[in-house]
Amino acid sequence: MANKLIFMTGATGVLGQDLIKELLETTDADIAILARAKNRKSHDERVRKILKSIGLDAHMGKRIRVVEGDVTQHKFGITKENLAFLEKEAKVFYHIAALTALNGTEKECQQINVGGTQHALELAWDLRKKGKLERFVYFSTAFVAGSVWQHCSKEDELPEKPKFANYYESSKYQAESRVRESMAKGLPVTIIRPSIVVGHSETGEVSDFNVIYPFFKLFAHGAISKLPTHVENTFNIVPIDFVIKATATIVKNPKSINKTFHLVSPHPPSIGMLLKLAKDEYPKVPSIEVMDIKDFQKTKLNAQEQMVFTIMEPYLGYLNGDLTFDMSNTREILRGTKVLLPKTDYKFLKTMIHYAVKAGYLVI
Ligand SMILES: NC(=O)c1ccc[n+]([C@@H]2O[C@H](COP(=O)([O-])OP(=O)(O)OC[C@H]3O[C@@H](n4cnc5c(N)ncnc54)[C@H](OP(=O)(O)O)[C@@H]3O)[C@@H](O)[C@H]2O)c1
Repeated sequence: MANKLIFMTGATGVLGQDLIKELLETTDADIAILARAKNRKSHDERVRKILKSIGLDAHMGKRIRVVEGDVTQHKFGITKENLAFLEKEAKVFYHIAALTALNGTEKECQQINVGGTQHALELAWDLRKKGKLERFVYFSTAFVAGSVWQHCSKEDELPEKPKFANYYESSKYQAESRVRESMAKGLPVTIIRPSIVVGHSETGEVSDFNVIYPFFKLFAHGAISKLPTHVENTFNIVPIDFVIKATATIVKNPKSINKTFHLVSPHPPSIGMLLKLAKDEYPKVPSIEVMDIKDFQKTKLNAQEQMVFTIMEPYLGYLNGDLTFDMSNTREILRGTKVLLPKTDYKFLKTMIHYAVKAGYLVI
């Protein structure tokens, strides 16, 4: 491999797949992908299949090399030969892998999100000291500040006393804290904090329906009858193409070293807008009663609704818009570039839901 080498974890996930595509199309970099064997498929087979589905398999063995590994292992369990290759070649290290399930257990989130990031940092220091690593790019989340309190989260810091809704948020907070410690000790770091990533701004397309989509499913399939929120409350979603284009633009700019970027919607949609969309476009979706949290009593729900509510609980912070985000670094670095801040209006919401219906994820 003769070009600049990017090493990436999480490339088989929703954001990783689109970022690989973007980097292959807009740079001349080669990419080493960390992947694990899963569901009786080897690491190599899995990556080949994904690349084929996005029309990029011709790059296998040319611009793309697959490195077997698991982030829960020390140095990801990478072979000596591959470690030597990364030491010799890697210039940029994107750590994207994480457990993104909002209902993940404490143990899983600790192992993958905190332990995985610790292992990534140890490896990054090695690649920096023994090799040519210029940058560690870390995918955090805007919800490191905790989704269940009224707070405006700043980009270049973490709040001292956040209030978390789930182990995903708390583990990502701990992971980002460790990244910040390394940054303070001299590792050149860029931290990307998206809010809730959803489909493409123009088509609604997305490779998997994770994070917020299971909530849309419960809603669209009539499993929820009452929701503790207000119609004017917002939920911060962000189209995937904005996150990908913004990330690539930010990383290219040397001014992004040792900075954090909120990739979020400046004007998030409201719960009322979502309910109106359902009423206007999908009249068969049963209506939901929106009620103040003070009047909401879980015990008044029937047994099935209580079960559904337990699944829903980790989402409630995301639907109440109490956590808001400063975007000063993002606005500044994207000013004058072709990457515009995303619009998440009624039209976009409609496109996003239509795609999930067309793809058969939502049956309404
Ligand atoms: N999607 C969002 O709404 C959102 C919002 C804010 C921040 N983020 C952050 O952005 C990043 C990517 O999110 P995503 O939505 O693309 O996630 P995703 O679709 O759930 O993909 C997760 C990725 O992590 C990998 N991974 C998980 N455990 C691993 C392990 N033990 N060893 C190696 N790889 C492992 C997965 O590999 P396998 O294919 O082998 O499972 C997959 O490539 C995450 O850090 C997430 O916290 C996402």
